[in-house]
Amino acid sequence: MLRTHTCGELRTAHVGQSVTLCGWVDTYRDFGGLVFIDLRDRYGITQVVFSPSFAEMHAVARSLRNEDVIKVTGEVVARPADMQNLKLETGEIDVKGRQLEVLNKSKTPPFFPTQSDLPNEELRLKYRFLDLRRPGVQQALILRHKLSKATRDYFDEQQFLEIETPMLGRSTPEGARDYLVPSRVHEGSFYALPQSPQIYKQILMVAGYDRYFQLAKCFRDEDLRADRQPEFTQIDVEMAFVKQDDILKMIDGLMARLVKVLRGTDLPLPLPRLTHRDVMERYGSDKPDLRFGLELIDLGEIARDCDFGVFKSTIEANGRVRGFCVPGAAEKYSRKQIDELTEFVKQYGAKGLAFFRVKEDGLDSPIAKFFSPEHQQAIITKLQAKAGDLLFCVADTFKVSCAALSALRLRLGKELNLYDPQELKIAWVLDFPMFQWNEEEKRWDAEHHPFCQPVEEDIPLLQTDPGKVRAQSYDLVCNGYEAASGSVRIHDPAVQQGIFNLLGITNEEAEARFGFLLEALRYGAPPHAGVALGLDRWVMLFLASDNIRDVIAFPKTQKASDMLTGAPAPVDLKQLRDLHIKVDVPK
Ligand code: AMO
Ligand code: AMP
Repeated sequence: MLRTHTCGELRTAHVGQSVTLCGWVDTYRDFGGLVFIDLRDRYGITQVVFSPSFAEMHAVARSLRNEDVIKVTGEVVARPADMQNLKLETGEIDVKGRQLEVLNKSKTPPFFPTQSDLPNEELRLKYRFLDLRRPGVQQALILRHKLSKATRDYFDEQQFLEIETPMLGRSTPEGARDYLVPSRVHEGSFYALPQSPQIYKQILMVAGYDRYFQLAKCFRDEDLRADRQPEFTQIDVEMAFVKQDDILKMIDGLMARLVKVLRGTDLPLPLPRLTHRDVMERYGSDKPDLRFGLELIDLGEIARDCDFGVFKSTIEANGRVRGFCVPGAAEKYSRKQIDELTEFVKQYGAKGLAFFRVKEDGLDSPIAKFFSPEHQQAIITKLQAKAGDLLFCVADTFKVSCAALSALRLRLGKELNLYDPQELKIAWVLDFPMFQWNEEEKRWDAEHHPFCQPVEEDIPLLQTDPGKVRAQSYDLVCNGYEAASGSVRIHDPAVQQGIFNLLGITNEEAEARFGFLLEALRYGAPPHAGVALGLDRWVMLFLASDNIRDVIAFPKTQKASDMLTGAPAPVDLKQLRDLHIKVDVPK
């Protein structure tokens, strides 16, 4: 080893020892006489001092620049009390340089890893090797490693096997586009990179590997957002001979382990279990942020009765009028700011935003005149409001009122600092609808994926009212993110075929696309269920970050490009010819 210690290791107990450190020059201060270098590696920073009494070494030290990589041998000395830096773990000592070797020079970097004002993300991703030297990014990758390790330990203790499934395979439908890989040997044929290991893990259950998990890479060609990457990692889990409750309990245990290992605290179990219907009513979202209140409340009865045309007609058209109370906010939002919030909810399809300031004697609002004193009192009571509160209401279809009010709720929760950003509020959402109506294509889509088992008592509805069928499916939500998703699977091939048909997939198509799964289900498939957690999202959540790129060593941009390597990139004509591919991009 070139070094005896790391740059984060030395303390007063080491005073008097001769040590060798290696690392990058974080800062240098040249006082003509003494030269001070902050030497950095991933463990920390140690101050090294070079004195002019060693002229040759001193001259080299004076020539050092940021990010040069060096090796220093010297003696650990205690700093005088007034020179100690209590912000640094190594701040009570210095290393007095005796030998200095420049292992490699650095070009002048476009930014410095420890500078406080970061340059734009594109530049940082282009020079990711410098960006990865930043302590913040290092903390994220260290936490990611610990999370993966704790996960593996937990499942290993529970008799799970980690089994790898192929990257080059058949398409597994998870609702996104596939990334395709052309085959050279089979002209005109393509592999699909897995959107998830879903079908393989179900086949593993048929094969008798009744407790499977995998930290699995998944690939999805979809529109990217701050919490999505085209390639990401799932903690993928499947169990045989279990019911929904067994999966929930197993994952409760995993979450408690992760919180213990990463936060050092005890997570109360069982995790709360909410129904899909309930969270849509109370939060307008299937992935509610439960760290704060501002719960939605139905005002249908008052709306039906009042003189405000918009409210009345919405109820008559089977829509919904819902609102929530923002305690103490009446004077915090000016008319202008409320106009801005109105524009904000319009982005979610709302036609307007009704608001009321609560006074001692009733409601103050441009539309207050449409509400009798009794109706005003009824609104105050229903929304559990008091003088000084601010009330917001949206009248629209259930879908639009959910979208608009949940977005407004999240925005106000954040703006008004209604929660501690470090807190983790985790809960299960159960009983998702099985299908979603696709208005464009006039057919039913699977809400999760087509392999979910319907709730037993809803099975007759498959024929009559598919929209009402609930699936035995569940999401784990945390702080407004969907952090895991799973279901009990169909293990009867006839039921599976029926669901495919309902989704507009004919028997022939089903055989062509999923024949291998249907065939496997015919050879003694046990009842089975599973779940997949978004590993990247959990690392984000534990770090209280809102950018998934912060927790991936080499992430892609919103446009799915890798700024470091320049991928995706054009390839040689020869390569394309081998693959029997002709590129024909319109000008
Ligand atoms: P699902 O598609 O819901 O379920 O994915 C499971 C979890 O993976 C995370 N996730 C993502 N993370 C980052 N970037 C993405 N593009 C991305 N897409 C999904 C989310 C999500 O909850 N096979 C099923 C699981 C099962 O039924 O067992 C599946 O893949 O946190
Ligand atoms: P208008 O009748 O369009 O002048 O709107 C009067 C007030 O009602 C304005 O503050 C609008 O933002 C609000 N408003 C209009 N449509 C709706 C709606 N669908 N839901 C809630 N408030 C609305």
